[in-house]
Order: sequence, then C-alpha cells, then structure tokens
Amino acid sequence: MRTAAHGRQSVIMGGFSIRRLPTMRTHYCGLIDEALIGQSVTLCGWADVARNLGGVCFIDLRDHEGIVQVLVEPDNAQVFAIAEQIGYEDALQVTGTVRARHAVNERIRTGQVEVVATQIRIVNKAKPLPFHAHENPGEDIRLKYRYLDLRQPQMQHMMRTRTRLVQALRRWLDERGFQDIETPILTKATPEGARDFLVPARLHPGEFYALPQSPQLFKQLLMMAGFDRYYQIARCFRDEALRADRQLEFTQLDMEFAWVDEQQIQGTVEAMIRHAFEQVLDVRLPEPFPRLTWAEAMRRFGSDKPDLRIALELVDVVDLVENCGFKVFSDVAAAGGRIAALRIPGGARLSRKQIDDYAAHAGKYGARGLAWIKLGEDGQVNSPISKFLDADVLAALLARTETGNGDLVFFGAGDVGVVSAFMGAVRLKAGHDFELVEDGWRPLWITEFPMFEWDEEARRHVALHHPFTAPAVDDEEQLRSDPGQALSRGYDLVLNGNEIGGGSIRIHSRSMQAAVFDLLGISAQEADEKFGFLLEALDYGAPPHGGIAFGIDRIAALMAGTESIRDVIAFPKTTGAQCPMTGAPSPLPEAQLAEANIAVRRKDPAPAAD
Ligand code: AMO
Ligand code: AMP
Repeated sequence: MRTAAHGRQSVIMGGFSIRRLPTMRTHYCGLIDEALIGQSVTLCGWADVARNLGGVCFIDLRDHEGIVQVLVEPDNAQVFAIAEQIGYEDALQVTGTVRARHAVNERIRTGQVEVVATQIRIVNKAKPLPFHAHENPGEDIRLKYRYLDLRQPQMQHMMRTRTRLVQALRRWLDERGFQDIETPILTKATPEGARDFLVPARLHPGEFYALPQSPQLFKQLLMMAGFDRYYQIARCFRDEALRADRQLEFTQLDMEFAWVDEQQIQGTVEAMIRHAFEQVLDVRLPEPFPRLTWAEAMRRFGSDKPDLRIALELVDVVDLVENCGFKVFSDVAAAGGRIAALRIPGGARLSRKQIDDYAAHAGKYGARGLAWIKLGEDGQVNSPISKFLDADVLAALLARTETGNGDLVFFGAGDVGVVSAFMGAVRLKAGHDFELVEDGWRPLWITEFPMFEWDEEARRHVALHHPFTAPAVDDEEQLRSDPGQALSRGYDLVLNGNEIGGGSIRIHSRSMQAAVFDLLGISAQEADEKFGFLLEALDYGAPPHGGIAFGIDRIAALMAGTESIRDVIAFPKTTGAQCPMTGAPSPLPEAQLAEANIAVRRKDPAPAAD
C-alpha cells in the first residue's frame, strides 16, 4: 500500500496512528480515491443500494467512512450471480480494482472512482429492515433498532462530532496539568435540584446508595485534598422530566480549581471552549465572551439563557401606562409588578388568529393575556386596548419601543418573574417565526445570579445554583439580613440560547456553609446527616475553590446542528424515560427483589412532569 494513502486514512481516523489495517479489508470504502486507481482493494461494509442496470450491477458499499460505488460486470458470471442476490443492508466483503468513473458523482467523497468487483462475499444477509434509512419511523422504532438507526451516515457524523469534541477537550486539559480523577457512582445524594436515582444496598437492608446528580461534593473534597486542578468526563444521573435537552443520565465535563477567583476560571474555560470550536468546527468564537448580569438578562431578554442571535429586546413601560385606565396595567403597577413591551418589526402583518397563537404560547408560561398594538403600513393604530391609550401615552409607547409603520408591539403585565418568562418565550417565538435568528455562535456569560429563589409551594428559599455556591458577600449577618436580595458567585455559560455550563466559587468556610444550609431551611441535624463529611472537611484548612461543569451532550448537539441531545447519545432514553431496545426499565423477579431487600408497593405510575 502507498504511504500517502495509508497516512491519509490514519488522519481521518482521528489522528490515531494505525500501522496495520484489520486483515478483513485493505481500505475503508469512504476513503477510496484517485491515488488508488489501478490497485486491488478489499472492502467491507453494508449494501446501501444494489441495483441491476442494463446488465451491470451497481452496489453502493458503505462503511463508517462513507460510500463507494462497486460495479459488477456481466462477463464475471460467478460474481454477478452473487451480486444479484444482494439485498439492502447485507454485510459484504468485496475485492476489486479501483478505476476512474465515467460519470463523476459530485455528491460523495469517492465520486471520482469506482471499484470493479472481482470477488464478493455475502458475509451476513440482512432480513428486510423494520424501516428504511431514508424514512423517519418515529422515536420508538428508531430507538428499538438503534443499531440500525446509528448506521445512517448523518448519525455516524453526529456521534463522531461528539468524539472529536471530547478528544479536543481532553487534550487541552491534559496539556495544562488538569488531573482526570474518577469519583464514585454509588454514593450519597448530591443535591442539584432533581430527584435521586436510588440503589438498594444488599449488604445493608433498608439502606440505599444514590447515583450522583453530579460529582459536586467529591470535586470540592479533591481540592481540599490538594489536587489543585481536576477534571472528569462524568456521567450524572437526575430523575427529572425529559426534554430535547435533558436525559436521565447525561455527561458533564466537570472541572474544579483551587486558589482561584471567578475571572480565572472563566478565562481558562473560555480558552478551552474556543479551542474546542476551532478544532471541531473550525469556528472562531469571540474573545472574550460577552457577559451580562442575571438581572440585565431578565430585563432585556426575559431569560437567564438569552439567545443573542435574535436582536429583539424587551422594554419596560410601567411608568408610561400605570395611569392609562386599563385596570390590568394599573393593578400590576400598583403591586410593583412588571409591564414589558416587545416590538416585532413587520409584525403588523400578523392575523388575529396568529396573534391568538402568540397569546396561547405566552399562556403556557403563565400569561393571563397578551395585549398588543399594531401600527399598519398606513400608520393606522389597531389594538384591543386602544380606548385606554390617549394620544400622549400612545406616542410615548411607540417612541420608547421604536415602533414604526408595519410593526406590532406585544405587552405583558404581571408578576416580575412571570412576565419575564412569558415575554422571553414570545421573543423567541417571534425571532423564529419572523426569521430574525442570525447565523453564527453567540456565547454569553451570565453572572450575579440571585443566591436564593423563593419556592411558594414549599414556603422556603431554594438555592438557584446549589447549596455550596458562595454568596457575593463575605459576611454571614449581611446574608441573613436580606437573603432574597443576596447575589451569588455563580455563573452560567450560554450558547445560542442554551445553557451549556454552570458553576460557581464555593463556600470554603464551615460557618458560612452552615448559615446557607440554615437559610435553605436545612436543620443543623439534617445538614450533619447529609453533609457532615463536607462540613468537617471545611474545618481542616480548605482552600478557596471553584469550578464549573459543561453539558457535553448539549455542546455536541449544538456542534452537530441537531435540536435534540438524543442524536449525540448512542443509546438514549425516550421522552417517556424508557429504552425500547432493551426494555428498560423492567420489573424484577421476586427472588431478585428479595435479595435486594425490596418490597414493591404497586401503585399508579408517577406523573411524568416534575
Ligand atoms: P448544572 O446542574 O448546571 O451544574 O449542570 C451543568 C451542565 O450540565 C448540563 N445538564 C444536562 N444535560 C443533559 N441532561 C440533563 N438532565 C442535564 N442537566 C444539566 C447543562 C448544565 O449547564 N455541579 C454543578 C456544576 C458546578 O457547580 O461546578 C452542576 O452540576 O449543560
Ligand atoms: P380584556 O380587557 O381582558 O379583554 O383585555 C384586553 C387586552 O389585554 C387583551 O388583548 C388581553 O390579552 C390583554 N391582557 C389581559 N391581561 C393581560 C396581562 N396580564 N398582560 C398583558 N396583556 C393582558
């Protein structure tokens, strides 16, 4: 084999040096090129298409590198007879001679050449497939036959994007002295806001391990143990409602640093993310990444993960409409709520039905209504609240929202958090509906999160990040005096409207950690039972430390250009939290339950939503 061709094959394999190819084949289908013309090659792969055209048989032979056309001439009667029996997805071994193709196929990498078969072996026949690669038979069938679904070139490509992402990250971290350390999977609960998956401890009847929601506490303990810079590609487990960007088990790039502040952490991981995008996509991300405080993000975009590719922004108008006579607005103003406006350029062309669709969409996020003003191309005003808007108020609203002829403005009024949420959702919908989503990559740091969020149902504060995040103030008394207003040292990294990472500077003083548990309504006894080991460790000279974790599945999905992280996970669960291929989860035989000391209480399945 020629060295040049050999060298190229190893590069495409992802940089690993392959000295000897496996003996069943001499080359990969997708890498056959003009340099091999005249040579004999042996290839292995699946029959993507086999057809008999005017006495000549053509087979598209596919492996993980791509497709090459194999041709069987009728004068080779023995091979021709085999070729005629080939069906879709049969596993084949083909030997033949590479030659230039008469009609070049520009759509495939090997389109300049074809392989004239001298030998074909049907290694394994395929039954008629449950679905054809070019159809979309629905999630359940795709996941039941995931091994067939994954054979498709676009699925192979997406999985390879993930591999290249992880490779780029690992190399970068290894070169900079980050130590890759594994942490336990059978452990005690680490709260990240979801439910735990539990594992019965056979040797300790009635006791359970929890699968980690993240390695959070272990990585903090590693900093206390003197490791200074840690990373782990860590599987995390969270029993929460599944969505396109959430799975029960998912993968984090988990990192922690000792003796640092947030600027150092953010600067370092920014460089790492920039490197990964250059390596995998040849994309240069901005330097530095822009940053917004949480408060500004909520005010301007109604979201803590704004998609900056959409230029639309919310505008506050409470001062302009508080006395306009529309009761909804004056009540909200009196209660200290929020009234936000969103101008949609060209929005005047929306029909009543389409406007109602926006109101229904906002309703899913808690809106009780969605008022609007249309300014027609002729300057004519049309609005369900026009009788409340005198000329001055109207002029002030149009001026502040910079509304011109042909535009529409939506208004949301209510509780601050609710208005931000539904107007943020309206902004996203309008951005997509009106094709206002710019191309490109818009990373963004969100900083200065509130320390706590009030949980109305539980009637207590909950941590916005997690209970180990340090408050922005060093003083416990200050924190206790107005916890609702306290900010934290947490930060998120957002990319095109997706939260791809989150982290914080941690609490490294025992008394501050105890104060935060207390403010979260965790009693001293409960804190001791659940996190006593952490509190104790903080007593032995714990260094200041902090870190971050990135959602590998989410970054890989963004890089691969897919909406769902399922496309970059080899064997994901359905949105119903099941695996149609293996049938998990499944009931267990009584004997196995008894061995694990489990008595099952049969009851209706829990509702899917969290
Ligand atoms: P957090 O909970 O923000 O932080 O998780 C970090 C990142 O993990 C991704 N992610 C998920 N991806 C897929 N499916 C899920 N169910 C899922 N949940 C989270 C997101 C998110 O940004 N211990 C902290 C990190 C730290 O403080 O260092 C933590 O786990 O991209
Ligand atoms: P009504 O007087 O209830 O018919 O409402 C007049 C307009 O105000 C309708 O377009 C409603 O959708 C809208 N509206 C009602 N409540 C709100 C609210 N909380 N925020 C924004 N618009 C609202």
